[in-house]
Amino acid sequence: MKILVTGGAGFIGSHLVKRLVKKYPEYLIFNLDALTYAGNIENLREVQNHANYKFIKGDISNGIFIENLFNSYQFEGVIHLAAESHVDRSISNPTVFVKTNVLGTVNLLNSSINIWKNDLKNKRFYHVSTDEVYGSLASKGLFNEQTPYDPKSPYSASKASSDHFVRAYGKTYNMPYVISNCSNNYGEFHFPEKLIPLFINNIINSKPLPLYGDGNYTRDWLYVKDHVNAIDLLFHKGKNHETYNIGGFNEYKNIDLVRLLCKKMDQKLGREHGSSEKLITFIKDRPGHDKRYAVDANKINKELGWKPSITFEEGLDKTIEWYINNSEWLESIASGKYKEYYKNQYNR
Ligand code: NAD
Ligand code: DAU
Repeated sequence: MKILVTGGAGFIGSHLVKRLVKKYPEYLIFNLDALTYAGNIENLREVQNHANYKFIKGDISNGIFIENLFNSYQFEGVIHLAAESHVDRSISNPTVFVKTNVLGTVNLLNSSINIWKNDLKNKRFYHVSTDEVYGSLASKGLFNEQTPYDPKSPYSASKASSDHFVRAYGKTYNMPYVISNCSNNYGEFHFPEKLIPLFINNIINSKPLPLYGDGNYTRDWLYVKDHVNAIDLLFHKGKNHETYNIGGFNEYKNIDLVRLLCKKMDQKLGREHGSSEKLITFIKDRPGHDKRYAVDANKINKELGWKPSITFEEGLDKTIEWYINNSEWLESIASGKYKEYYKNQYNR
């Protein structure tokens, strides 16, 4: 089977590609990635010489390039992760989110249906989406697959739009698809613009920890390898034209998560208890900041038996240890353009 993974040089995509290449030697895994600031070919070093793996550099928003690619390789499955993924960047530069997340998805849908239309059997377009499409929850309740869409940021609006296109292609052209909407991931190879890797990097370097607003915002955290495990399962066994929510059953308020992270980092770095917590700095809130996300992942649990394999504390320990032991990965990112981004975002 020839499978195209898009965005496979990013955080979740690189974990997925490594899993698929190693677990399915009989598949050919093609990794298409534009290598934007978030894509890092180094994330794939352990599979780069595998016979069933091929990297292709390219932009999904270029429709002609995508059409030629599909005509040349005749992929049988697509697992689509390529996206602009950071909410703060979508607030300062929304247009690129429309280009990649909406137009890029439509280009992939067009080229898939074009080569599949005469024989839809054993074909699948898997669209990886986010729980942010559902908007924000009050203090009670969970997002389930029936929750109406109510995106609040340019990022989530672009992801919601791409989800609608996938479903519309299902209705209009009978496109065989599965969509999953997942909660916040964390783990190794996470770009240090997102809360957990940003704060790990800042603690290592004794820099302020910029917490938005009062820190009383809630997210539902899932270890990245558990998300990738769910994607593998749904790609193979999810029902056609269905949506599945994926989550960690693990809600944390940002302030509580950051305090836990500080405590663990003090222990692992051999620093005095309480020293990292002193770095917490409350700053101006993110505009339109969603109050709470929490996912009901019972559908995938009941249908396919999926559940997170490790606890948040175990996953956080693994993650912190990886960042401490892979300082050269962090240092290579945290120079050049990253410094510029950081200064613009945090005014420091
Ligand atoms: P990421 O930002 O780490 O990686 C995105 C990858 O896409 C990068 O390698 C980048 O180079 C590539 N890319 C960007 N624009 C491209 C383009 N025009 N053409 C080709 N490649 C392009 O993102 P991530 O956190 O790994 O997220 C992957 C997917 O999962 C996204 O679709 C995101 O919406 C979704 N998701 C993420 C999370 C999370 O917590 N990180 C949770 C739920 C869903
Ligand atoms: O819910 C899934 C989504 O999770 C994914 O679709 C997105 O791609 C991913 O980026 C993530 O979005 P969030 O906006 O929830 O993640 P982020 O790490 O940016 O922020 C997590 C929380 O931490 C959020 O409440 C904002 C807060 N935060 C974040 C940063 C970067 C801060 O307080 N300070 C910060 O500097």
